[in-house]
Amino acid sequence: MSRGVFLCRLDELPDGQSRGFDPLGAGRDTLLVVRQGRDLHAWRDDCPHQPGTAMAWRKDAYLNRDGSRIVCHAHGARFDIATGLCTLGPCLGQALTHVPLQLDSADHVYAILEEE
Ligand code: FES
Repeated sequence: MSRGVFLCRLDELPDGQSRGFDPLGAGRDTLLVVRQGRDLHAWRDDCPHQPGTAMAWRKDAYLNRDGSRIVCHAHGARFDIATGLCTLGPCLGQALTHVPLQLDSADHVYAILEEE
């Protein structure tokens, strides 16, 4: 069973940048979204190198300098934005966990989360 949890409006996601969310009220961001135009990529904020490790070095800062990769700032792993695959660093070949998103006709962004 899954449910959609409202995250924000599309225009609240800066194009080419990342943003963290805490959709379940965990007290810290547990998923991240990267916007590339109308393409949105969402991943759990949980590094495969050391599960449970949050990846941003400050609020919403998940990308490298040129915005081409997601970075885990604990040990520098780089991840492809579209596939979540680690392309450099200690978890090479592993991947982030995908979070499905839904964009409705009013440009509201929802995360589709599995209920436990
Ligand atoms: S915990 Fe992410 S690279 Fe080590």
